[in-house]
Amino acid sequence: MDKSYQKLIQGNKLYAETKLSENSDYFKNLAKGQQPDYLWIGCSDSRVPANEITNTESGEIFVHRNIANLVVHTDTNLLSVLEYAVKYLKVKHILVVGHYGCGGVLTAMTDIYHGHVDNWLRNIKDVYHQNSEELDAIADKTERANRLTELNVIEQVRNLAKSTIVQRAWAERDLYLHGWVYGMSNGLIKDLAVIHNSSEHIDPIYRYTHIKPWSADIITI
Ligand code: CO
Repeated sequence: MDKSYQKLIQGNKLYAETKLSENSDYFKNLAKGQQPDYLWIGCSDSRVPANEITNTESGEIFVHRNIANLVVHTDTNLLSVLEYAVKYLKVKHILVVGHYGCGGVLTAMTDIYHGHVDNWLRNIKDVYHQNSEELDAIADKTERANRLTELNVIEQVRNLAKSTIVQRAWAERDLYLHGWVYGMSNGLIKDLAVIHNSSEHIDPIYRYTHIKPWSADIITI
């Protein structure tokens, strides 16, 4: 059997020892509970770890990752994470974080069959289709992929804004939706967009004007 996994166990021991040497209550404090201000919706890509690239600690970011950082309204995993983060953890910011060189985006630009994942990546093909005029005009393939990566992030931020979960939160408080792209070649995040209410950025057909805030829920046991 390949024993390379043992490196992770050894690494974990070193991590725990280092944290304890800096603060003997580090894990005791973490064990009390979490109060993260941020929900991260990022790509599963191993090169884009949320805490590491933002220089943050355990407990600071609630994380959801999938291939190509998509916000799909039938994804029960995403919706559960989103509702929990917004309704119960009361995060202040949601970060949709794409990255240049994303395999999901590059694959969505081809006609090569891969299997089930193609149905997932169809969401990115839709973004391409909606922006084909702009994208087809970019001659360089990498630049075209980079632009699609950005447009995809912005579309996923819009998908968040169209969700009943985000609109319920907006009915009672501030919540900021950010679109970011991470550059793996320089390690830097590019800030693309921020949305903080539905009326400015979302077409009226997607707006729920009679939505009740969660605070209006009557809980009976
Ligand atoms: Co990716």
